[in-house]
Amino acid sequence: MQSGHGKDIKNLLKIDHLSFSYEDNNEVLSDVTFSAESGESIGIIGANGIGKSTLMKILVGLLPEYEGSVTIANHAVKKDNLKHIREHIGYVFQDSDNQLFLSTVEEDVAFGPRNYGLSEEEVLACVNEALAKVHIEDLRKKHNYKLSGGEKKLAAIATILSMKPDVIIMDEPSIALDPRNRKNLISILNEIDALKLITSHDLDFILDTCPRTILLDEGRIIADGESEKILSDEKLLCDHGLELPLSLARRDIRLTT
Ligand SMILES: Nc1ncnc2c1ncn2[C@@H]1O[C@H](COP(=O)(O)OP(=O)(O)O)[C@@H](O)[C@H]1O
Ligand SMILES: [Mg+2]
Repeated sequence: MQSGHGKDIKNLLKIDHLSFSYEDNNEVLSDVTFSAESGESIGIIGANGIGKSTLMKILVGLLPEYEGSVTIANHAVKKDNLKHIREHIGYVFQDSDNQLFLSTVEEDVAFGPRNYGLSEEEVLACVNEALAKVHIEDLRKKHNYKLSGGEKKLAAIATILSMKPDVIIMDEPSIALDPRNRKNLISILNEIDALKLITSHDLDFILDTCPRTILLDEGRIIADGESEKILSDEKLLCDHGLELPLSLARRDIRLTT
């Protein structure tokens, strides 16, 4: 596998003048341009229905009919290039049930590397490493249908990590997690050194996992910069259908009482 090859590439992810519409619909993304480097962690925020998931799907090649240019590790995200693209990028779906389709955690985490044609010994090494990274070695033999929501999310992330991607895309990873699992996920994500793009409604989660934030509205990038700045700008957030992260709103309350 290409493990870590992307680390030395400048602009590991590069999006230039990206526009996209679903058939017969208005433009969902309009002239989106940004790039990202290895090791960055970027929150993609914006009101419901604004195009966050659409952007994620474009990056992994699920919606190839876009305008503009999208490259990952210098490979254009195009239909005939998908094999190369998927060596570099992994997509953690919003719904973990869509990611786990074999019977046990171990089988699902082994699926990618095995499909890639690695020897069973190499597959085992990838599986061990991926399970260790999300701290679920004890779940390896467990049947997927017996996993809790939090365990499923970690297993889904392990199925991606076993392919050693340079870029990991996560769509609403904290949705449906209880506070303890959510906290656990934050610390696990902060240990993963791939380039991460994380969409979330949970702006506290973004604050805790992403030093950089991109705010989308009406298909365009409204702000792209330090999370601490963007996520503490109440007017900016309100103007685009969002609210201050709870942790910052609480600080305001403390300051004013
Ligand atoms: N498969 C699809 N076909 C047509 N329209 C879609 C499809 N998926 C999403 N949309 C529309 O595209 C817009 C953006 O959706 P989405 O990317 O899911 O937003 P977000 O993830 O920010 O909530 C919405 O108006 C949604 O209704
Ligand atoms: Mg979405």
